[in-house]
Amino acid sequence: VSPFLIDSFKRRHDYLRISLTERCNLRCFYCMPEEGVELSPNGNILTDDEVIRLATLFVKNGVTKIRLTGGEPTVRKGLVDLVGRLNELRQYGLQSIGMTTNGIALHRRLPALVQNGLTHLNISLDTLDPFKFEIMTRRMGHDAVLKSIDTALASPDLRSVKLNVVVIKGLNDSEVLDFLEMTKHQDLSVRFIEFMPFTGNKWDKAKMLPSSELLARISEKHPMIMKASDELNDTARSYLIPGYRGSFGFISSMSDHFCGSCNRLRLTADGQIKVCLFDAKEISLKDQMRQGATDEELMYTIGRAVGAKKEKHAGMEDIDVVTNRPMILIGG
Ligand code: GTP
Ligand code: 5AD
Ligand code: SF4
Repeated sequence: VSPFLIDSFKRRHDYLRISLTERCNLRCFYCMPEEGVELSPNGNILTDDEVIRLATLFVKNGVTKIRLTGGEPTVRKGLVDLVGRLNELRQYGLQSIGMTTNGIALHRRLPALVQNGLTHLNISLDTLDPFKFEIMTRRMGHDAVLKSIDTALASPDLRSVKLNVVVIKGLNDSEVLDFLEMTKHQDLSVRFIEFMPFTGNKWDKAKMLPSSELLARISEKHPMIMKASDELNDTARSYLIPGYRGSFGFISSMSDHFCGSCNRLRLTADGQIKVCLFDAKEISLKDQMRQGATDEELMYTIGRAVGAKKEKHAGMEDIDVVTNRPMILIGG
């Protein structure tokens, strides 16, 4: 990667998460307040051309992995074409295009997305119980998500399909073993995620279940689980159950953060670069672009933002939920 994407702790940022919209067709309580959040005026959201210009700049400077997020990325108009345009960045070194989605409006669009270059898909599903789904997401649609998961697993050109399960104590933690059974015959990776605090999500330590406790519970039922190898920059620590086709893992942002190996940068839907999920300080690349900045000027700004990235943020005492955005406006 170019020096612009290396921070003062020598972390190399080759992974860009691009939020494509602030909108969502669900209302998950851990992500946003019930009444929703105030949306940016449409004109403040990056256009397709602006997304492509910035993505090109990042890829030419060493980003190899792009992940599309939201809000819910599938509600963005023109998503399939945008993925096709991102796919052209392979010529400059882009290796993968991922998307994190709630799966509600996915299954019909998925074949076209994969054909246009989508390679990695993470689907959020916190419960296998349709009734609990309504409690957690404040909307209907459980069937549609299950259908999307099936469609994804049946897409030979997708290189990876993962399930994201945010674990809330007393609500869905009793379903952990059921989720593991989904990995028995399917090449699916299920990740149990610790509940993180964001503006308006009513985070409470008592609702958070540390991964270590979940692992202990899982080991009781499956004493033969084995540690799987993780990529250096993975958010998850993965495990295998002998005889199971898929795998499972934990994203322990709260109890065991992984900031030391962080390789991520974020672009918000309204065009700000955000160097850390928990850092409220952002710089607007959109404003600079609209004022006529050259690529060199943009890269200089990006370099300054990366250079100011802090060592770690997930140590709980550091997390600033007051000035940070709600999760829905970050995209995970
Ligand atoms: P992969 O590219 O498949 O590794 O996906 P991912 O785990 O990076 O991203 P995904 O969008 O599936 O997010 C899964 C969970 O990890 C969500 O709860 C995210 O908020 C969380 N997450 C993603 N990136 C970071 C990060 O840099 N720091 C922290 N603390 N959590 C993150
Ligand atoms: N804590 C942990 N994960 C969260 N996500 C959304 N809000 C939170 C939170 N408060 C997850 C979603 C999705 C990913 C982008 O982030 O479930 O899978
Ligand atoms: Fe929508 Fe995802 Fe937030 Fe749920 S977690 S409200 S699906 S953006």
